Amino acid sequence: MEVQARAKLNLTLDVLGRRPDGYHDMRMIMQSIELADILSLSYNDTGELRVRTNLHFLPNNEKNLAAQAALRWWEARGESPRGLDIAIEKRIPVCAGMAGGSSDAAAVLRAMNRMEEAGLSPEAVAEIGERVGSDVPYCVIGGTALAEGRGEVLTALPPLPRCWVVLCKPEFSISTPALFAKIDSVRLRCRPDTQGVIAALEAGDLAGVARRMYNVFEDALPDRQRARVNDIKNTLIQCGALGASMSGTGPTAFGLFDDEALAQEAQERLTEFGGEIFCVQTQQ
Ligand code: C5P
Repeated sequence: MEVQARAKLNLTLDVLGRRPDGYHDMRMIMQSIELADILSLSYNDTGELRVRTNLHFLPNNEKNLAAQAALRWWEARGESPRGLDIAIEKRIPVCAGMAGGSSDAAAVLRAMNRMEEAGLSPEAVAEIGERVGSDVPYCVIGGTALAEGRGEVLTALPPLPRCWVVLCKPEFSISTPALFAKIDSVRLRCRPDTQGVIAALEAGDLAGVARRMYNVFEDALPDRQRARVNDIKNTLIQCGALGASMSGTGPTAFGLFDDEALAQEAQERLTEFGGEIFCVQTQQ
């Protein structure tokens, strides 16, 4: 079975505080985009769980979130693991704040629900996803949603009006646990206007959403990396983006455009920053 795993962007990201279990309470608005990995799943007779990807440095064993998802699936169903091959064509940048690994895990769960004709609702599949990672439940459901708690408490929101997204994943990567650890000691300059973004979504006001986008992790980045993310955001705005922000724990920065030609020009301009650059549409 072949399935797509869509990337996500954060229209907003707020960290409300550290919890006794070590995780952080979040309040963030997530958006799916057309950029996706392609997964192929097939059962095998060897009894082994094997992962293959086009990126040699990714784990091909149970450390891969896609394999974790299969194991958690069987565990939740009270079944023993079976031989399974998972082939992943990675297109979503890795360690980028775009939930690439979580989205692969979510795609495995959705595929297994169909392959095994289990008939679980998306919400029930998302609940299994919680055992794999905080972003996996959202990746099962997708679209435009408010994510709270660890990220697993989801409320569907009116869809973001369709637009073009230009994004740049700079050449460096960010460790998610390290940035979460740092955020506790950072004095946050500003917080996103989450309610304002929800009101703009309800009004179908793309520009209203775009100008309110903000991610508190931008303030926790090391200086040089923050400067690079700011340069990318400023370039996007100069090129006509309605707003620009960083996704997840970064370092991917992106801008929203209502004009395809401007978006393509911005994509050209961003090549000066290196890294991985895409111009894609949003996905409901
Ligand atoms: O849930 P997941 O395994 O994706 O989280 C990776 C790490 O990110 C956690 O170990 C934790 O350090 C941090 N995290 C957090 N609060 C969240 C989500 C993740 O502190 N809500």
